[in-house]
Amino acid sequence: MDSRYTALMLYALGAGAAVISLIKLKMRLELSRAKHRSLSGHSRLSRRIAAMIPFYEYDERRFFRCDDPPEAVAARREAAFTSLSKLFRDRYAGTARQTADIKDGISDLQFTDTYRVPFQFSRLVRKHLPAGALVQSSSGVTITDLDGNRFYDLTGSYGVNVFGYDFYKQCIERAHKRVRDLGPVLGSYHPVIAYNVRRLQEISGLDEVSFHMSGTEAVMQAVRLARYHTRRSHLVRFCGAYHGWWGDVQPGIGNPVAAHETYTLNDMSKEALRVLDTRRDIACVLVNPLQALHPNANAPADSALVDSARNAHFDRAAYAEWLQRLRAVCSKRNIVLIFDEVFLGFRVAMGGAQEYFGVRADMVTYGKTLGGGLPIGVLCGRKDTMRRFRPDRPADICFARGTFNSHPYVMAAMHEFLQHLEAPEIRSLYADVDRVWNQRAVALNDRLRGEGLPVQISNLSSVWTVCYTQPSRYNWMLQYYLRAEGLALSWVGTGRLIFSLDYTQADFEAVADRFVAAARAMRQDCWWWADPAATNKSIKRSILREMVTHRFFHRA
Ligand SMILES: Cc1ncc(COP(=O)(O)O)c(C=O)c1O
Repeated sequence: MDSRYTALMLYALGAGAAVISLIKLKMRLELSRAKHRSLSGHSRLSRRIAAMIPFYEYDERRFFRCDDPPEAVAARREAAFTSLSKLFRDRYAGTARQTADIKDGISDLQFTDTYRVPFQFSRLVRKHLPAGALVQSSSGVTITDLDGNRFYDLTGSYGVNVFGYDFYKQCIERAHKRVRDLGPVLGSYHPVIAYNVRRLQEISGLDEVSFHMSGTEAVMQAVRLARYHTRRSHLVRFCGAYHGWWGDVQPGIGNPVAAHETYTLNDMSKEALRVLDTRRDIACVLVNPLQALHPNANAPADSALVDSARNAHFDRAAYAEWLQRLRAVCSKRNIVLIFDEVFLGFRVAMGGAQEYFGVRADMVTYGKTLGGGLPIGVLCGRKDTMRRFRPDRPADICFARGTFNSHPYVMAAMHEFLQHLEAPEIRSLYADVDRVWNQRAVALNDRLRGEGLPVQISNLSSVWTVCYTQPSRYNWMLQYYLRAEGLALSWVGTGRLIFSLDYTQADFEAVADRFVAAARAMRQDCWWWADPAATNKSIKRSILREMVTHRFFHRA
């Protein structure tokens, strides 16, 4: 009798274990299916592969011939490179010299300078086309370097510059006057904070606000609170989305250790919704609405522009529908939905992405422009998600402080910024913003197409990315032709052009003229010569062959 019971018990336990294993396997498979096929969809693998890629570079001959062009084409490129180099050396001499003087001491500068173009070309580009990192002044939509060269600014200061540099200068000046009697007293607040809180509550539609020093910190706080309140471990981010440089939101390349409590899912996919609907360990979903321009792709940088596969297309209705579905599943499963509007907030609508796409989040992070020109990160959230302690468990707290949080000068500059939003002309500016920037993108694309130039713009309102329509290994050269035409880009090059909303039609037309002139010159100089048989795939294959050769046969 006993042994029969024991056998039955063992059988039941075995069956139970098998069922649990099967459920786990099913969940695991669902998770795998919800990952994007690309390497950025597989964080661990991408880090492993990145660690295997060997450094190699093209010598002065191969630099112009890596796509095996006819000799006349290579010679033309070489001559063009020499004269562009001379132009850079003459025109930007002082800026380049002073940049070189500080470069050894500034790690960030060494990094950005190295990663402007694909690494095989980087050293020679740095040597011959030195990019000055110093600027003297800004005025209207232009910035001026140390040699007195004026550039139309397309850097947008990483997205901070929504309303034009002159506006932020005013915010900072007025802020200084408003709080100078208090000065940098920290821990207590200047009364100016009250207006900021009220306006942020109105704008976000959420109950509470916390102030931080950067967008990265605001995101960290949002995720920490979501974990605290849900008692769940994992955050979900979507493939390619940038949320700052904190390890948990950057599980792939760039982070030396694995992020074990992050799921990176396929953006705009029903498989991702299924994972959210079935797993029990998900605390929050982070959405960066800028991804609507290029779902599942990393922020486009020219260092990754090894061919012409960069692709972008913005479909507002499709993305709004996706956000609605995400909203529904998060509500059903008590997952905290966080919109990370550090970049896009205040650029596309007064109420940010929530208003623009017509979907409400449980928490929203803001940053960049909201500081009125000074450093900022802000988290807004529902009351039940923002509390940092439990009345019934006094030692169970969710700690977050920061020395410079709510700095009086920052609060006062933010006050100026938020007050500006109340002006009637800003309301009408927002009402028209998409029409204006879409029309401008269409006009430039028509001109480029009309001249048969292999370049097209994709845009989400005033945020633009340059795409290339025929296979080429030299598209990254365009950033140097654009600079020579007086257009300033950030270190990611043609991947992201950010316009401030004070660009007049005349300013924009001047930019468009220069853009077309740069593309024409680039074509004339044969950088876009292409073997008719070349495809983006064949280019990638040839680079892979080079890498394998260097990894296995060129060891020092
Ligand atoms: C969407 C988003 N989140 C977070 C951050 C990080 O902000 P910060 O650079 O202020 O730390 C950025 C910065 O570009 C961002 O674009």
